[in-house]
Amino acid sequence: MLSHSQSSYSLEEISSEDLGAVGFERISSANDSLPLYKKTIWLKILLKYRDLLQGHLYDLGCGESPYKDYFLQQAEQYIGVDWQGSPHKTQETLLADLNENLPIGDNVADTVVSLSVLEHLYNPQSMVDEAFRILNSNGHLVMQMPWQWTIHEAPHDYSRYTPFALTRFLENAGFVDIHIEAQAGFFTTMILKWNYFTARFVSKNKIHHKFFKLCLLPFWYFGQKLAPHLDKLDKNWSAETIGFFVTARKP
Ligand SMILES: C[S@@+](CC[C@H](N)C(=O)[O-])C[C@H]1O[C@@H](n2cnc3c(N)ncnc32)[C@H](O)[C@@H]1O
Repeated sequence: MLSHSQSSYSLEEISSEDLGAVGFERISSANDSLPLYKKTIWLKILLKYRDLLQGHLYDLGCGESPYKDYFLQQAEQYIGVDWQGSPHKTQETLLADLNENLPIGDNVADTVVSLSVLEHLYNPQSMVDEAFRILNSNGHLVMQMPWQWTIHEAPHDYSRYTPFALTRFLENAGFVDIHIEAQAGFFTTMILKWNYFTARFVSKNKIHHKFFKLCLLPFWYFGQKLAPHLDKLDKNWSAETIGFFVTARKP
């Protein structure tokens, strides 16, 4: 059930063909340089699951919909759902609180995607149950959530979940074929935390910004090149992951 992903987040390991195919410009322009590393890990795993992204796709907690163009290369229709309490410039089609029942009919979705959202819900089982209700038979849920990440979007940051808790949520809802994949190991997690931490000290002032960025770039770059190789040395690497990707099917 819990598998070790061979994915890495190095930009160079994704072919330019793949990047073109997923509208990489759109994704990279949605974020500054550090979030780009993060988005690249997400992107590579999303590429792996591209066959699950079909038909009427609902993106629960869509935020700024950074993957909309990519999803629409596979799916026919994209419906973003977010709420009024968001700190983002959300691009939702529908405003709804994911802690509650959704104003969406039964069996209308072919795919439900929810990336970096479950940790923000005080009632996570409700979202998983609602995803199950709105999915068609044989439709898939694709989720991602952090395991080791800083508190963010406070005060709406409630939990981090182990694969065992996630499995319970999904089984309770009725999902089958549950697959949970660790996104990266200890070294990648540490490097990403270091990158994000140091990025906070890059001043908004343009000259300082350039200077600090130049000093930090080699660390960011070599860190991200080296970390995936070091990850492989740790046999228990999925326990130290930055987050999990989850897929499950409605029977
Ligand atoms: C970390 S962002 C992720 C956004 C997007 N999925 C992405 O990957 O870029 C979390 C998103 O969940 C949304 N969210 C948090 N709590 C919510 C709630 N109770 N109902 C609906 N959306 C919620 C936030 O507004 C935000 O857009």
